[in-house]
Amino acid sequence: MTYNTAEINRIIKDRRTVKPDFYSDREIDKEIIEQLLHNAHWAPSHNGTEPWRFVVISGDARKSLSDFKADWYKANTPEASFNEGKYNKTKAYPLRAACVIALGMVKDPNGKIPEIEDIEAVACAVQNMHLTATAYGIGAYWNTNAVCYTPAAAEYLGWDAGTRCLGFLYLGYPKTELSPEGHRKTNIEDKTVWRAI
Ligand SMILES: Cc1cc2nc3c(=O)[nH]c(=O)nc-3n(C[C@H](O)[C@H](O)[C@H](O)COP(=O)(O)O)c2cc1C
Repeated sequence: MTYNTAEINRIIKDRRTVKPDFYSDREIDKEIIEQLLHNAHWAPSHNGTEPWRFVVISGDARKSLSDFKADWYKANTPEASFNEGKYNKTKAYPLRAACVIALGMVKDPNGKIPEIEDIEAVACAVQNMHLTATAYGIGAYWNTNAVCYTPAAAEYLGWDAGTRCLGFLYLGYPKTELSPEGHRKTNIEDKTVWRAI
């Protein structure tokens, strides 16, 4: 089988974090969300643990997520460090997104696979979704603010103690087709050693 390598290289390079401030009101078709999830499911996992779990939050359910995240921030931030702007953003972001996918990882019940490997597998699944979103012209943003790693978040999402929340993937069509410019502070050549013998 042959692939269009130029296209895959371009999608990978064009994948950008696009935050909800830049989303339009356009809805995302359910079939496209399903495609993202199918592509997530093709991620690799050690021993085939397939540890990813997702909760797709759209429509009115976004309001409940917005309240949950904002209330948690208010209740768990000392008054001295409370940031009104951060609170407002936390409240607004789920509502500005067409859809938010909560990202979960089930701990291997057999305890054979180190947890880090299941985390890595979920990260691969998230990248699959982010790249797919890019190909559909949809902006995506992986958010991991403090609440996501708490048992409260897992409970809110309906997960038991064996499932960790690894964040939220915000999705929405950007207001403009222009993707934010990507930056990398270093060169890959400086981070790679080649050993031929
Ligand atoms: C595991 C993970 C967690 C992230 N959490 C946040 C976050 O909480 N807030 C944020 O602004 N960006 C977050 N990001 C996005 C990064 O800021 C973003 O990937 C980085 O700035 C590079 O930009 P790019 O995705 O457009 O290449 C996260 C990315 C990853 C991989």
